[in-house]
Amino acid sequence: MVGLDRADDAGVYKVSDDLALIQTVDFFTPIVDDPFWFGQIAAANALSDVYAMGGTPRTAMNLVGFPLGDMDIDVLRKIILGGLEKIREAGVVLIGGHSVEDKELKYGLSVTGFIHPSKVLTKQNLQNNDDLILTKPLGTGIINTAIKAGLASEQIILDTTKLMAQLNKIAAETMTEYKIHACTDITGFGLLGHLAEMVVGSSKSLLIHSKDVPTLPEAMEFGSMGLVPAGAYKNREFRECMTRFSSSVSPVVRDILFDPQTSGGLLICCPSSQTEKLLADLHARGLVQSAVIGKVIDDPSQKIFVE
Ligand code: CO
Ligand code: CO
Ligand code: CO
Repeated sequence: MVGLDRADDAGVYKVSDDLALIQTVDFFTPIVDDPFWFGQIAAANALSDVYAMGGTPRTAMNLVGFPLGDMDIDVLRKIILGGLEKIREAGVVLIGGHSVEDKELKYGLSVTGFIHPSKVLTKQNLQNNDDLILTKPLGTGIINTAIKAGLASEQIILDTTKLMAQLNKIAAETMTEYKIHACTDITGFGLLGHLAEMVVGSSKSLLIHSKDVPTLPEAMEFGSMGLVPAGAYKNREFRECMTRFSSSVSPVVRDILFDPQTSGGLLICCPSSQTEKLLADLHARGLVQSAVIGKVIDDPSQKIFVE
């Protein structure tokens, strides 16, 4: 049902009239120092692509690259335990895995999920006047850059780590109670990069209200100091041709909108008649930073207007 012909969050294969399998794989090198937290973040990130399709993750397998000899095996044990904590929280069963010796530590999961074939949410199917809801604040790429530079406080490190380790489970479960048109999750391409993927080939455009985009306050602070990851500039270079900023949008806000996120939130494309109730539900279930950040507009130029 969903394959290589277009970039989506996961592949989907129809098994029967009632069941489709969602399959995805994700792994990366450490983005935090603490191995237990790194395991949690990598697992939350891998599970997220199933949630972004509107599905329920069911099974997972560990993927490990580990520098045996250079690193204490206890580090790997903690990573796996961190991942397992998130796998359990997701109600998923760990059924296997594979590890190789590798110069650089890597960890992630392959995940299989279930979904009814008629309920699959992709990046396509944007409808005029739909509202765009984002469920986690932006800025983790910039804050991770500040952490690497030794400029972030312990409190900021902990808060950002917790945010990255937060599953998109509740957001997905809440969203699937509504008739949503499209969904994706915000990761390495940044908000505008992922919005661009939704717009390409859609015959629509998007209007984003930058002041409504939930943002970590420290990201504004560190971004103003120039602590912007190289990925943000790559994202901008790649998608600049599709974005139109109004002159009132400051350079740091532009950087944040292109900032690569680790395990970011869901971006939900919601019919406007349901927005108010869905947003209230997300807030009531603890996703208090969820916000409407813009809408789909009837403009076939496939641009993202940011004001
Ligand atoms: Co994704
Ligand atoms: Co992915
Ligand atoms: Co094997």
